[in-house]
Amino acid sequence: MKRKLFAVLCGGIALALILAGGRVLPTRAADQAKDDRKADPSQEDSGRDDLPLRDFMRQKLEASNMVLEGLCTDDFDMVKEGATRMNSISNSERWRVMNDAVYRQFSGDFQATTQQLVEAAEKENMDRATLKWVDATMSCIECHNFVRGIMVAEQPDSR
Ligand code: HEC
Repeated sequence: MKRKLFAVLCGGIALALILAGGRVLPTRAADQAKDDRKADPSQEDSGRDDLPLRDFMRQKLEASNMVLEGLCTDDFDMVKEGATRMNSISNSERWRVMNDAVYRQFSGDFQATTQQLVEAAEKENMDRATLKWVDATMSCIECHNFVRGIMVAEQPDSR
């Protein structure tokens, strides 16, 4: 069991690294995000909802890494904190970037999974928390693949 858990976590770490590498969405988008940061003075003000969309979205990555760290160090408070952040980001107005039925479905799944992750952390159930974190990580990738498809279909330069 321990070994299985470890394997799952390692897979998760690899996924997280891929996400951190900005390969989730086209690199062009990551470069653009850097430019936005330089150009936009409101960047210094870290009030969460004032952030440009990509920075707002990037908070999911930090929250997810927090959960991973909590899982690796047996720190359920940390798991809960990260999961709560992921959940509240997905409940925010800004999350609803498109009014598409499929996007809403992905959003709903992500909200439900992160909520279950919060509950698993509260119950200090390591196996369930690990499973839910992996589920949440899968939905990061699935939703991004979907979003990327839509964005390529629309004019990419209008963003
Ligand atoms: C329901 C859909 C959905 C889910 C689930 C989702 N995201 Fe996103 N994510 C988006 C959208 C939409 C954007 C904004 C795309 C853009 O503007 O380039 C985004 C952007 C991002 C970015 C910024 C990329 C860049 O260009 O800098 C990161 C990082 C990110 N998400 C991480 C995550 C992580 C980590 C998870 C899972 C814990 C996750 N996302 C789950 C929809 C989603």
